[in-house]
Amino acid sequence: MYAKLSSRIVRFDLFTLYLRQPELLFFASMDLEKTKEQLINVEKEIASCQLCPLYKTRRNIVPGEGNPHAEIMFIGEAPGAREDESGRPFCGPAGKFLDQLLDSIGLQRADVYIANTLKCRPPANRDPLPEEKSACRKYLEEQIAIINPKIVVTLGRHSTETYLPDLGGITKLRAKLYHRANGIFFFPLYHPAAALHNGAMRQTLLDDFAKLPDAIVQVKAQLAKQKKENAK
Ligand code: URA
Repeated sequence: MYAKLSSRIVRFDLFTLYLRQPELLFFASMDLEKTKEQLINVEKEIASCQLCPLYKTRRNIVPGEGNPHAEIMFIGEAPGAREDESGRPFCGPAGKFLDQLLDSIGLQRADVYIANTLKCRPPANRDPLPEEKSACRKYLEEQIAIINPKIVVTLGRHSTETYLPDLGGITKLRAKLYHRANGIFFFPLYHPAAALHNGAMRQTLLDDFAKLPDAIVQVKAQLAKQKKENAK
C-alpha cells in the first residue's frame, strides 16, 4: 500500500538507494541540497516581491514548506491570520484538519509540500483577487517546476480555477485525476476549511482523500508507459 511504503518518501528512497547502489547516495543527497537551495531562492524572490499591493499589508510571506522532493504537492488558497503571523502554511484549524487527512492515508506534513495560490495574506481574509492570483502565479510555477511532484492536489475553488479553468466547478472536478498539456497531473479536492463546520463535508473530504493513493499509482503507471514509449 502506498501509504505504508511512503511514510518518509525521501528517506525511504535514500535508504533503498543506499542498499542497492550506495555509491549513488552522495549524488542523491547533493540533488536534495540543490533542490532546497532553489526553493530558498524562490523564497527570496517572494520576500522582495511588489507585483501586487499585498506586500504592503502582510506581516510575513508564506512561501510554502515541506519535502523538497515530495511526490504530492498541495496548493491551498491564501494565508490567513495565523499563517501571516508565523510565515507557515495551514497552521490554523484548516491545517489541523489537513494533518488529519494526511494521517488518514499514512502521510505526514514532512512527506508532502504545501503551498498556496497567494504568498501574502489578503486583508481581512477576503478572497484572492484575479490580478493577485495572476501576479503570484509565477512563484507557484517555479515551485512546481523545482519540486516536480507526481501529483498536484488543488485545495478548493481558487487553486482549482487557476490550473483547471476550463473544466467546470470544484464539485464536478473533485477527486478525479486530470493530466494537463503542461505534463502535470492534478487532483482537485474541497478546501479543508469548508469542512470545519460541516460534518457531511468532512466525511466527503475523508472519502475523497482516500482516493489519492490510487491516483498516485495511476500517475506512476502513466509516467512509466510514457517513458517506455519515448525510449522506442
Ligand atoms: N487556508 C489556505 O488556503 N491556506 C493556508 O495556508 C491556510 C488556510
